[in-house]
Amino acid sequence: MRVTLTAIKADIGSIGGHIRPSVSLLKEVERSLQPHLGSDFIDFRLSYTGDDIAILMTHTHGTDNPLIHQIAWDAFKAAADVAKKEGLYGAGQDLLKDAFSGNIRGLGPGIAEMEFEERKSEPFLLFAADKTDPGAFNLPLYLAFCDPMYCSGLLLSPNMFKGFKFEIMDVSYTEGDKVIALVAPEELYDIAALLRDPERYVIKAVYSRTTGEIAAVASTTRLHNIAGKYVGKDDPILLVRAQGSFPATGEILEPYALVPYVGGFMRGSHQGPLMPVKRNSSVSFFDGPPIVSCTAYCVKEGKLSEEADAFDHPFWDYVREIASKKAIELRRQGFYGNAMLPYGELEYGGIVERLKALEGKFEIRH
Ligand code: F6R
Ligand code: MG
Ligand code: MG
Repeated sequence: MRVTLTAIKADIGSIGGHIRPSVSLLKEVERSLQPHLGSDFIDFRLSYTGDDIAILMTHTHGTDNPLIHQIAWDAFKAAADVAKKEGLYGAGQDLLKDAFSGNIRGLGPGIAEMEFEERKSEPFLLFAADKTDPGAFNLPLYLAFCDPMYCSGLLLSPNMFKGFKFEIMDVSYTEGDKVIALVAPEELYDIAALLRDPERYVIKAVYSRTTGEIAAVASTTRLHNIAGKYVGKDDPILLVRAQGSFPATGEILEPYALVPYVGGFMRGSHQGPLMPVKRNSSVSFFDGPPIVSCTAYCVKEGKLSEEADAFDHPFWDYVREIASKKAIELRRQGFYGNAMLPYGELEYGGIVERLKALEGKFEIRH
């Protein structure tokens, strides 16, 4: 059967700053989705990561379906009204446009969708990150799909010998989707050259070169490109199919043990280690650190299995400790150098005004 997975996430308000959504917000999203269950879509699940709520839906309408997008948009809208009533912080923050016009892309929420023919068993992973941007998935995806140091399947599984095709988007371009397709292993260095700059070049999708099937798809929204100013970090989501001609679940997870520094953290303007956390985790230290959750599922005829929390394991407690140490270490240098993002990526306008005011006070001496 051909099934579509649609994952949509948005920050529509949270408790005590940008910590986590309230239970009543999640309930409102659920209340709004429930009437469509079994008719417009087959199944759904809700979770939160920091201040973002993620909706996962399964259906047969394909990607970019106006009805499915509308249902998600209405659910977020309804919950944003609850957030306003409760006086939650940043109520409706990611709903940047007032009216829905057929597609949720460009309206604020992050979206990752894929359509495929279900395999006999169809395991897949939903990653959701908070206090960071879509480039946060560049390194983990690169290592899982290109590097035999991480993905042993590239050496051991004939299903993967041909490698993978990457679609990479230049998210600085706002007139449309500026995308390049590159294949690994032949164009590995070109892929690396782009992914090196995660604020600009972002993996949009990955395909198997053996079967041509879609392997991974990430949200690539840049909120400040939509709104023209800082309105919160882009907090991406990612769907990855696992096993068979795709990397094994453990190969997809392994790179997260690196806890690479990513852009985001406090005020979307710093660097911090990407900490793998359990589902439904909040943020804390310096509005962070940047976090990523991963829920594993199987889907059969569109019905979702029970969920398995991929980072809920003693191994990841140790990794979280390393991430905490890396976070504290970098925070020790406060605003200085690499602790903060470069000028063009600072998500608040204040520094621009400050530097502009100082510019007039400089004098040129010869
Ligand atoms: C980052 C984030 C927070 C806020 C910070 C200041 O994505 O959501 O770090 O940027 O708490 O929030 P405001 O400017 O809303 O007071
Ligand atoms: Mg927020
Ligand atoms: Mg967020």
